[in-house]
Amino acid sequence: MSDRHFDELATRFAEKIYGGAKGAIRLAVLQADLAEALPDRPLRVLDVGAGLGHMSLWLAQRGHQITLAEPAEPMLEGARQRFAEAGQNATFLQAPWQDLLGQLQEPFDLVLCHAVLEWLAEPAAILPVLHQLTAKNGWLSLAFYNKDALIYRNLLKGHFRKLRKEHFAGEKQSLTPQQPVDPRELATQLAADWQVESRSGVRVFHDYMPQQFQAKAKLIDLLEMELAHRRHPSFEGLGRYLHWICRPR
Ligand SMILES: C[S@@+](CC[C@H](N)C(=O)[O-])C[C@H]1O[C@@H](n2cnc3c(N)ncnc32)[C@H](O)[C@@H]1O
Repeated sequence: MSDRHFDELATRFAEKIYGGAKGAIRLAVLQADLAEALPDRPLRVLDVGAGLGHMSLWLAQRGHQITLAEPAEPMLEGARQRFAEAGQNATFLQAPWQDLLGQLQEPFDLVLCHAVLEWLAEPAAILPVLHQLTAKNGWLSLAFYNKDALIYRNLLKGHFRKLRKEHFAGEKQSLTPQQPVDPRELATQLAADWQVESRSGVRVFHDYMPQQFQAKAKLIDLLEMELAHRRHPSFEGLGRYLHWICRPR
């Protein structure tokens, strides 16, 4: 297995998903968590696997200085356009995480790594690199596709054969990640170098709603309820993605 750099097709899918309610909830949760955690001063930010740059653009608009690193040209091009349309500047690097230590000299105040781990052949291998890229008193914002939520969705759908076979990876060209992340395994891998400061679930109920209720719900209500329940002790771990803000030890 190798890392999945997004091609044209994946870029189009990603644009579609980010444009809907799922994308809006995702951004609202990530933004609320970061707004709460970050100080009120301009930060040097690195977005690893930045994709179309949605989160970076939001940070740029708040006065932070952004570097986007992304190996896939169609995704990086989408990000360039989004920044240009918004009249924002940034540094755009076409590079996978494996090349970053060779290209970047100084560590960053804030490193984003959102929805990338689950597309990597060896997700654990990126963690020491993220640690070196993050300043000693900095932050790592880590969001990943939650294996527990995938198991729960399969339980709800009665996909028991799939569960027995532990068949969780998406098909080759699909936009279902190739390696859903086990949160307990990740917590163990992080423990030596990072303190996890906050944990939220991204979409703790929306994706489980019966379709007729999902279709009827207003986005404004979905956002309010997802934000209100993102850290509920029984629901946080059901988020389709989990967002952890980590500080280096
Ligand atoms: C689901 S997208 C997430 C994009 C963005 N971070 C976001 O949250 O909107 C996953 C991204 O990881 C990128 N990716 C895949 N392998 C990578 C690698 N080795 N280094 C950095 N990024 C990688 C893909 O090209 C894709 O743009």
